[in-house]
Amino acid sequence: MSTPVAANVITQVRERVKAIETMPSIPQVFLPLLDMLNLPPDLVSLNEVVKLVSYDNTIAAQCLRVASSPLFGLAKSPDTIKAAVISLGLRRVQTILLTCCMGKAFPAKDWPLDPIVFWRHSLGCAMVCRQFSEKMGGGDREKAYMAGLMHDIGFMVNCMVFPKEFGAAVKYALERQIPLDVAELATMGFTHCESGRALAELWNLSDDMIHVIAHHHNPERSGTAQPLVALVHLSDLLCRMRALGYGYYERQKVDLVEDPAWAILLREHRKLDGVDLVRFSFELDEAVEGISHLVSTIMAGGNP
Ligand SMILES: [Fe+2]
Ligand SMILES: [Fe+2]
Repeated sequence: MSTPVAANVITQVRERVKAIETMPSIPQVFLPLLDMLNLPPDLVSLNEVVKLVSYDNTIAAQCLRVASSPLFGLAKSPDTIKAAVISLGLRRVQTILLTCCMGKAFPAKDWPLDPIVFWRHSLGCAMVCRQFSEKMGGGDREKAYMAGLMHDIGFMVNCMVFPKEFGAAVKYALERQIPLDVAELATMGFTHCESGRALAELWNLSDDMIHVIAHHHNPERSGTAQPLVALVHLSDLLCRMRALGYGYYERQKVDLVEDPAWAILLREHRKLDGVDLVRFSFELDEAVEGISHLVSTIMAGGNP
């Protein structure tokens, strides 16, 4: 386990990240949507979700196209937002909207990381988290999806707020074939976990989501949200072991069953005892194509 980042560095990161809040590119529905996702599901009304999705035409069109992806369970594209909300359910539509908004909130210009590769990883992780949560039985699958989608939000922050420093970290990682967070710590003195956390706090994300973003590389450091953080940690590793990593080979030994995160999950969910993690990791190969297609849909914006 790496040593925690010094408090004064975290304060400096937090100060610089504040600039993102005034970014003109953030879709107007994004922040109200984040607020809504913090509410208990029974306090969210169908009309409010429909209103939020319909607010921006291009986002609404994109949501309908994403909703028709087999990965979201609908065989045919719904004709109206209301029909989509009714057939998919409120929570799922909220996460689809979040997926579309995230793609727009961070314009991918001159990123040191390939944005397509980054999105494939984030969406891949979101899908794996949901599938994992399904295997566990119980638990909130859409929350798991959202956690997977947002876990590496700090990379986007680094691309926008610390492009030069982060560019050097990416180069360092590629040359040595080491994990990006290790390279960030070595060259920048902090990682995407700290910058992501700063943005998550600024955006008032839920405590669980803040824990995921801040601790997904060290789940044992998370307190209350530990099982969710462990789930994201393992899903992240699974994606990076298969074809959904950061676009380069990471020379690291991964043993999912020996990983402390697996023990954390097993403690909470006995149902996982019978799950074959190695097989699960191979099943991922089949999902890669669908995920790549979904990323193209999201990157293409609202145009049909
Ligand atoms: Fe990460
Ligand atoms: Fe990741």
